[in-house]
Amino acid sequence: MEKLLELKNVHVSFHTYGGEVKAVRGVSFHLEKGESLAIVGESGSGKSVTSKAVMRLLPNKTSEIKEGQILFEGKDLARLPEKGMEKIRGKEISMIFQDPMTSLNPTMTIGKQIMEGLRKHQNMSKSEAQERAINLLKLVGIPNPEIRIKEYPHQFSGGMRQRVVIAIALACNPKVLIADEPTTALDVTIQAQILDLMRDLQKKTGTAIILITHDLGVVANLAQRVAVMYGGTIVETGTVDEIFYNPKHPYTWGLLSSMPKLNAESKELLAIPGTPPDLLNPPKGCPFAARCPHAMQVCLNHMPESTKVSSTHQAACWLLDERAPKVEPPEAALVGGAR
Ligand SMILES: Nc1ncnc2c1ncn2[C@@H]1O[C@H](COP(=O)(O)OP(=O)(O)O)[C@@H](O)[C@H]1O
Ligand SMILES: [Mg+2]
Repeated sequence: MEKLLELKNVHVSFHTYGGEVKAVRGVSFHLEKGESLAIVGESGSGKSVTSKAVMRLLPNKTSEIKEGQILFEGKDLARLPEKGMEKIRGKEISMIFQDPMTSLNPTMTIGKQIMEGLRKHQNMSKSEAQERAINLLKLVGIPNPEIRIKEYPHQFSGGMRQRVVIAIALACNPKVLIADEPTTALDVTIQAQILDLMRDLQKKTGTAIILITHDLGVVANLAQRVAVMYGGTIVETGTVDEIFYNPKHPYTWGLLSSMPKLNAESKELLAIPGTPPDLLNPPKGCPFAARCPHAMQVCLNHMPESTKVSSTHQAACWLLDERAPKVEPPEAALVGGAR
C-alpha cells in the first residue's frame, strides 16, 4: 500500500497565560491511499489539534508545530508556507467539522457555497460549476438538487446540512477527507445515515478518510484501521479487528468497556474513572498511568515505547514488556458480537 499522508513525531503546543499547553506530544501515524483510519479517544486527547495541524488551521499567534513532520506527496506540511497550503487545503485535503451550521455561511445559497471551491481550485465556468454542484448534491443523497441549490442553510435539516458540508468537502475530489466528529451533533438515526453515506462515498470516490470520534462504536463499520489517542499521544494502533478483538492497551480496554454492546443484557456504560492529564504539566511517564488499574512504578516514571504486536498493530504500554506481569483485558472490554 502507498503512504499518502504520514505524521512523524509531531508536537503541537499552545502558548497560554498559564504556560505551554503540550496538546500533541510526539504523534506518528500514516494514512494509506483510499483507506479509512479512525482516530478515537476521549475529549481533550488531542484529536482535533492533530487534524488541524495537518490542515494548518491552528491559530498562528498562540500555537506552534514545535517538532516533527507532516508528509504529503513529498511535501512537509508542517513547514509549508501558507501560499503552498492554500493549494492543498480544500483541494487535496479537506476537512469537515462537528457542527454543520458553523461550517456553512447562513447568508449564501447552498449552490453558491459548493461552487465557490470549484471556481477557485478547478477554474470552472459558472455553468460547469453549477452542474457539478447539482451532481454533488445527488451524490450525497439530497433529493431535488436542482431546486435545493437555490436554498439557504436554514432550509435544511441538521442531517441534510451535514450532507451539504460533505458535498463541499468532496467538490474538488480531495485525496484525503478529515471528518472531525462529523455526526456528534446529530441524533442517532441520522448519525447512522451519515456514516453509511461516508462509507458509500469512500467506495465511489476512493478518497482516504480520517474519521475522528470519541466513540469506538462508530468506527467498526467505517474504518479499516484505528489509532487510539490519549493525553496528546497515540497509545495503540491496529486494524479494526486487532483493536476490537485483541486490544493491548488498558486505555483501549477502557474505551471498549464504555461502548454499548449489541448483545449485552445491561445497557449500563462503564466510564473510565478519573480525568485526562493536565497538558500544561504532562506526566513524564505513561499519560494513562494515573487512571490505569495495572500501573506499575515504571509507568509513572518512563514513557513506554511503542511495541510491535503484529506488522499492523502497535501499543505503547509497559505491560507488553517481557518482564511485566501477564494481565488480561477485563470482561467488559471483550467485544464478542458487537460488530
Ligand atoms: N486554542 C487552544 N488554547 C489552549 N489549549 C488548547 C487550545 N485548543 C485545544 N487546546 C488543548 O489541547 C488539548 C487537546 O484538545 P483537542 O485536540 O481539541 O482534543 P480532542 O479533539 O481530542 O477532544 C486539550 O487539552 C485542549 O485544552
Ligand atoms: Mg475534538
